[in-house]
Amino acid sequence: MRTMLKVEGLRSGYGGSEVLHGVSLEVHEDEVVSVIGPNGAGKSTLLLTIAGIVRPHEGRILYDGVDVTSLPVHERVRRGLVLCPERRRLFPEMTVGENLLAGAYLRRDREGVRRDLEKVFEIFPFIRERWNQMAGTLSGGEQQMVAIARALMSRPRLLMLDEPSVGLAPVMKVTVFEKVREIREREGIPVLVVEQDAYLAMSVSDRTYVLESGSVVLEGRSSELMSNDDVKSRYLGL
Ligand SMILES: Nc1ncnc2c1ncn2[C@@H]1O[C@H](COP(=O)(O)OP(=O)(O)OP(=O)(O)O)[C@@H](O)[C@H]1O
Ligand SMILES: [Mg+2]
Repeated sequence: MRTMLKVEGLRSGYGGSEVLHGVSLEVHEDEVVSVIGPNGAGKSTLLLTIAGIVRPHEGRILYDGVDVTSLPVHERVRRGLVLCPERRRLFPEMTVGENLLAGAYLRRDREGVRRDLEKVFEIFPFIRERWNQMAGTLSGGEQQMVAIARALMSRPRLLMLDEPSVGLAPVMKVTVFEKVREIREREGIPVLVVEQDAYLAMSVSDRTYVLESGSVVLEGRSSELMSNDDVKSRYLGL
């Protein structure tokens, strides 16, 4: 299977303080990969660095075989390396439709945009009905799904999601993660998802990396990690 993302020895942080101390990971074409870890472990910093918003001071980011470490954010998005950031940031005073089309602003292929909208409606049928509703009036779960749908409108070839379930009711969390799986299976888009709910993340992902204090301390097939005693007691509360 093709490797869509290969991160090697990433060191990154803010100003003088290093948050990631040499992180390496891979995402293959046919995978949902999760990164779990406690608050402040550096999960968001990792995704922000891969997206190009935070600059690493060491290490490499290979996307689809190309070194994108020094490319600007919009160049990465144009190539399909797309981040849906922590806490849905929809434009609350704009309609659902306007928010979705904002995700396609770098695209010139109008036919393609129309086709992708149809796909988005298939995955999230409620969006068609809510097209003209102000985004700020949607429920938390609906807003999260519109944020993911908006990311899909920029035609990702690797989708990165930062804590898509944060702040949602348990049932809604499960729904959002079912959609993540569906995006992988139906659209064939690999997903790298960061999540604090370790059980949920490992239930839907093929592989998992455990990040602690800026370093990967464990990695493996999610199903195997879930039966690891250390993971059970530290992350699953079992
Ligand atoms: N913009 C910033 N400027 C300075 N320090 C930051 C900035 N953003 C994050 N940090 C620091 O970097 C460290 C890692 O933060 P990060 O947001 O990556 O963690 P996280 O694993 O995503 O946590 P959470 O689960 O709470 O979202 C923390 O110590 C945090 O205070
Ligand atoms: Mg975070």
